[in-house]
Amino acid sequence: MNALDLIIKKRDGLELTKAEIDFLIDEYTENKIPDYQMSAFLMATYFNGMTEEETFNMTMAMQRSGKSVDLSLIKGFKVDKHSTGGVGDKTTLVLAPMVASLGIKFAKMSGRGLGHTGGTLDKLESIRNFNVNLSIEDFIDQVEHINLAIIGQTSEINLADKKLYALRDVTGTVPSIPLIASSIMSKKLAAGADAIILDVKVGSGAFMPNETEAIKLATAMKDIGQKAGKKVTCVLTNMDEPLGYAVGNSLEVIEAINTLNGRGPKDLTELCLTLGSYLVIDAGLETTLEGARAILYEQIKNGKALEKLAELVKSQLGDVDYIYHPELFDLGDIIELKATKSGYISKIDSYKVGHASMLLGAGRETLDSDIDYSVGIVLQKKVGDYVYQGETLALLYVADKNIEEATKILESAYSYSDTQIDTKLILNVVR
Ligand code: URA
Repeated sequence: MNALDLIIKKRDGLELTKAEIDFLIDEYTENKIPDYQMSAFLMATYFNGMTEEETFNMTMAMQRSGKSVDLSLIKGFKVDKHSTGGVGDKTTLVLAPMVASLGIKFAKMSGRGLGHTGGTLDKLESIRNFNVNLSIEDFIDQVEHINLAIIGQTSEINLADKKLYALRDVTGTVPSIPLIASSIMSKKLAAGADAIILDVKVGSGAFMPNETEAIKLATAMKDIGQKAGKKVTCVLTNMDEPLGYAVGNSLEVIEAINTLNGRGPKDLTELCLTLGSYLVIDAGLETTLEGARAILYEQIKNGKALEKLAELVKSQLGDVDYIYHPELFDLGDIIELKATKSGYISKIDSYKVGHASMLLGAGRETLDSDIDYSVGIVLQKKVGDYVYQGETLALLYVADKNIEEATKILESAYSYSDTQIDTKLILNVVR
């Protein structure tokens, strides 16, 4: 077997066997296949796709390429969550404690933000001293004891994905459904949970520009997970405006805390209750979505979900005072963005809002950029709201970086119409 024959086979639209895919992934991970041959294989896959069987085999080969987390010794039902990358997406910070407070084990490895999208690790690190670098052993131990841990993915997990994703990034082969599905699912399978909830974002700035493509990706990921013996639910959500009002690290943590206090934005609360309901059903605590939603909401009303967040912060050495006194978060100076005309807001381009926030310092332009937790944007109006000329559209929390450019980009994110637009957050569910 050699790489050239397999590249030609994929180029000609033929199906690769499990042994052939194992060979490609194993040899590439061990640096025995060079980047130029793997690039050709990825491009052939981009154009010709993969069968369901090939995508599954690719996922399993990638998963095997590094360590896996063995959660099997932990008693109880273990769950995990992934989002394909949103703007203002602080869902994990609300969902995880809410679900864990019901006794379901939430074991989550998260990522950092890059470009216009934020990352859960950066948000958590805006809480003073919060430690995202636990060993796999400490991660498992914490899930066992407090039902919840959120850490960075350790470098030993999924070695193939690290190399492949970097190569896809520079060869124009990121937006391929089998490659995205195998990349995401190989990491989720390595993380060891019994049930996985996937938030597949659709719209501006998302990997999937429309619902049809998003359903294909969701179906591919569900098929892989179910074949591997996991319960998988994909919820397709609209990203034609940011989630909630806050974008930027400390600002998003504050909004998550408000949501756990029952004072969160409608869309964020709705999304967390929806995602959580499927996990509650998978865990066997309830049989209907209405029942699951009710017990989750009760955890907000009785304060247990917020208590669980505080427990997480304490266990990972963060300063718990920030959870009960969010005024402790250091925030930038405020600049108001005013509406230049009157009308109903018909769209707030998420990509542009995320980009503006990144320019202010909340995100990373490149992997090694520093970030500023104190800056970001808080929208004052959402799609469907009426705004009068001169009214405040958004607040920019700024330091000293790129204020003029960010303000211009943010202003261009808004579209207006004469009639009110109805928005729908949850577009579809695949399970
Ligand atoms: N997120 C991933 O982890 N992998 C992809 O390929 C795309 C999004």
